[in-house]
Amino acid sequence: MATINDNYLKLKAGYLFPEIARRVNAFAQANPDAQIIRLGIGDVTEPLPDACRHAMIQAVHDLGDRTTFKGYGPEQGYVWLREKIAVHDFQARGAAIEADEIFISDGSKCDTGNILDIFGRNNIIAVTDPVYPVYVDTNVMAGNTGEANDKGEYGGLVYLPVTAENNFTAEIPQQKVDLIYLCFPNNPTGATATKEHLKDWVNYARSQGSIIFFDAAYEAFITDPELPHSIYEIEGARECAIEFRSFSKNAGFTGTRCALTVVPKTLTAKAADGSNIELWKLWNRRQSTKFNGVSYIVQRGAEAVYSEEGQAQIKALVSFYLENAQIIRQQLTSAGLKVYGGVNAPYVWVKTPAGLTSWEFFDKLLQTVNVVGTPGSGFGAAGEGYFRISAFNSRENVEVAMQRITEKFSINFP
Ligand code: MLT
Repeated sequence: MATINDNYLKLKAGYLFPEIARRVNAFAQANPDAQIIRLGIGDVTEPLPDACRHAMIQAVHDLGDRTTFKGYGPEQGYVWLREKIAVHDFQARGAAIEADEIFISDGSKCDTGNILDIFGRNNIIAVTDPVYPVYVDTNVMAGNTGEANDKGEYGGLVYLPVTAENNFTAEIPQQKVDLIYLCFPNNPTGATATKEHLKDWVNYARSQGSIIFFDAAYEAFITDPELPHSIYEIEGARECAIEFRSFSKNAGFTGTRCALTVVPKTLTAKAADGSNIELWKLWNRRQSTKFNGVSYIVQRGAEAVYSEEGQAQIKALVSFYLENAQIIRQQLTSAGLKVYGGVNAPYVWVKTPAGLTSWEFFDKLLQTVNVVGTPGSGFGAAGEGYFRISAFNSRENVEVAMQRITEKFSINFP
């Protein structure tokens, strides 16, 4: 009889966003006239930038001609895209990353999970709480945790609470941890990290021989010139960090799929025999075996992000979503709610009104004003009492959703 990976049985409930979709669909079926506005999952709504679309159309034509046709591409991504990323996203910011340290992929979500393939099973792993659930669930699937307790915390993981009191930036752990997940601008809280904060992490990681998984999927939303976009802007990060980036949120590629992972050639970790092994080689081996690259068409679309018009268009897209975030912040504040984030990030993190849990607030908004958000407790125990509102939607939907909330609820919010 075949057996299963029993670690899957440790997972709590469904993955957060399908679980929300399930509840919303049930509500929609029971209330077919409800005009539901979804500000839950951070999925983009605005069309692809013209520059990307035109590049993709041209790429389709390339594939229709024998002389420019492409079959399998390099598993690591086409060099013309990797070079543009290296120059524009890293070197221009003083981060010494080379094109061959960049691996193009079909998503940061996939890569933050897949990266565990190249690490041992005995690492001590730290995550912030609340946290993007993929980091936790993929460790559970990989067998890196024990069972969950009643609060949904898994045995074996080190949880670093991020709360209003510490400005939603985790304190450096007192104990030794081997792998650390950081995400800035943060999903779900919308918090950002200063250079000083990242320096503390880099110093800690280097002193302990730990590796930081730095998720920078939302870096394009940083407007404050003082804030770092990449962990490699910090000296020493090439020796302790892997960075994940995405075209999903800046260029609207959530459906088209294109992302990148940076593994510096100077990054090592220990083998069982005590020797230092280059992680680049392992990730390259992993990708070459388990991945066949992102389609030529999509990589041409991503390349167009770096053209002059592409840059202007993604800037406009990001500004559009940031204006949505600003409207959400203003309206919810005027309704008496305490809000965080949403300034250099597309997520607004809201304290639920007194007495309401995250899921109770979710149900209240869904049932009374037909607005969907994401319960903070879905991101971890310390997210209880918070609620995430995504700025990824049309202007009209954001305005209508906020109007419904303020009209219906202002008087009820303390
Ligand atoms: C979110 O809503 O947290 C994001 O859409 C998740 C993701 O990018 O996978």
